[in-house]
Amino acid sequence: MTNHVMQTYGRWPVSMAKGEGIWLYDSEGNKYLDFTAGIAVTALGHAHPEIAKVIAEQAATLLHCSNLYHIPNQIELAAKLVELSCFDKVFFSNSGAEAIEGAIKMARRWAYENYGPEKHEVITFEHSFHGRTLGALTATCQAKYQEGFGPLVPGFHYANPGNIESVKSLISEKTCAILLEPVQGEGGVRPFSKAFLQELRALCDENGFLLILDEVQTGVGRTGTFFAYEQFGIEPDILALAKGLANGVPIGAVLAKQHVADVMVPGTHASTFGGNPLATAAGLATVNLLLQEGIMDNVREMGGYLVGKLQQLVDKHPVAQEVRGMGLLVGLSLDRPAGDVIKACMEKKLLLTVAGGNAVRFTPPLIVTKEQIDQAVSILDETLAELYQTV
Ligand SMILES: Cc1ncc(COP(=O)(O)O)c(C=O)c1O
Repeated sequence: MTNHVMQTYGRWPVSMAKGEGIWLYDSEGNKYLDFTAGIAVTALGHAHPEIAKVIAEQAATLLHCSNLYHIPNQIELAAKLVELSCFDKVFFSNSGAEAIEGAIKMARRWAYENYGPEKHEVITFEHSFHGRTLGALTATCQAKYQEGFGPLVPGFHYANPGNIESVKSLISEKTCAILLEPVQGEGGVRPFSKAFLQELRALCDENGFLLILDEVQTGVGRTGTFFAYEQFGIEPDILALAKGLANGVPIGAVLAKQHVADVMVPGTHASTFGGNPLATAAGLATVNLLLQEGIMDNVREMGGYLVGKLQQLVDKHPVAQEVRGMGLLVGLSLDRPAGDVIKACMEKKLLLTVAGGNAVRFTPPLIVTKEQIDQAVSILDETLAELYQTV
C-alpha cells in the first residue's frame, strides 16, 4: 500500500504490532528488547494490565468533555503532582513541546504583570532540546532543528552549558527566565552539575527572574527521584513534564509556584484536549503505580548497575569513550557517530536510540531487571566487537 504519511521521520523498516513489559513484537513476530521505551515514555512497560484496565473503563465512561467543565481526574492528578513537588498549581497539555510553550508563556506573563513588556527574554543552552513547535524550537539551541524555519521567536539567547560567565553575559533587565533540562537528553545525555544549577538559582533570585526546568524527559521517576530537581538541591519556579506521565497516553503538564500561577487568569492559556478525562486517568494510574510499587528504588539500583556494566565496555572497546547520565537516562558516548551501533543492535533485536550524534542512549522502562540489562549490554558488547574488531 502507498504510504501517505508525511516523511518527517527516519524510520526503521519495521512495524511494531504489540508490546508486553520490556518487550516489543513486530508484525512478523520478531521479539525486541526495548531499551527505548518509546523514547522515555512507557515507564511501567508496554501494555501494563492495570493501566490498560483504567484506560478501557475511562473510555467506556467519558473520553472527553473539554475544559469548559471540571474534570475530577485532572483535579486529582494535579493534587498528586503538587503533593510530590514544590509547586502549587498545574496546567495540563498534550505533549512536551506544548508544556514548554506553556512554561515560556507563564514566565513572560509573570514578567509582564510584575515589570512590564520589556522583560521577556529567555536564556537557554547550547545542545538543548525543548521540542518542535516554534517557541520550543527557538528555545532548542541546535541549528539542525532550526534550519529553514525562521524567523524564529524573538527574545531568546543561548548560553554555554556549565559556564556561569556565559550565562551572566546574557543577563539584562530584559531577562525573564532561564530554561534548561537538568540532564540534556537529545543533546547527548549530558547532566548539569548540582553546583551549576545552584548558581543558576542564585542568579535568578539576585536578578529577579524565573528558573524553568524542562523535565519532559527526566521527570516521573526517570532519574531515580520523581523529579530530577530533587537531586540538585534547588526549587525551580516552573517545570515542564510529559513523556512518562501517562505511560504512553499523550499528556503534558506545566507545574508552577503560586506567584507564577497567579498571573494565569482565565483566558490566558488553554487547550481543547489538555488534561482530558482519559489522559488524566492514565496519568493518575501511572503515578500511583510508580509510587506503590517502589519503582524509583529500582531505577536507582538498575541505573547504577547499567552504568557499571557500560563502564566495562569503555574499558574494553577503544571506540567507547564515556558513560553519562542519571538513573535510567544513560548515555554511552563513542568517538564517532552512534548510528551504525544502533542499527547493528536493532538487527540483533535490541532497541536503542542515538543522542547528540555520538552517544548511544538507554531509556529502558523503569521496571527493567538485572538480567535484561545483562542481555542488552552483552548484545552491545558483541556489536562493538564485530563493528570495530575489538575483543
Ligand atoms: C527535554 C525535552 N523537552 C521537550 C521535548 C518535546 O516533547 P514532545 O516530543 O512530546 O513534544 C522532548 C522530546 O524529546 C524532550 O526530550
